Amino acid sequence: MYVCVCNALTDRQLRSRAASAESVAALYRAMAVRPACGKCVPSMRTFLQPSQQQAAARTPLECASKG
Ligand code: FES
Repeated sequence: MYVCVCNALTDRQLRSRAASAESVAALYRAMAVRPACGKCVPSMRTFLQPSQQQAAARTPLECASKG
């Protein structure tokens, strides 16, 4: 299933990288993409570990605003 339509990222791809990502921004970087519309950010958080999800909820998505 596609999670990020803008970057054609599937749940299978994200699960394989999520264990090493400490944040949603890190997960995008691990996939070598940048968020475009940002609609997938809440879904991306669900792929992080519970402790990582709490940190991600408190931290703004720094890579979304960088050009
Ligand atoms: S759906 Fe992921 S950036 Fe648009």
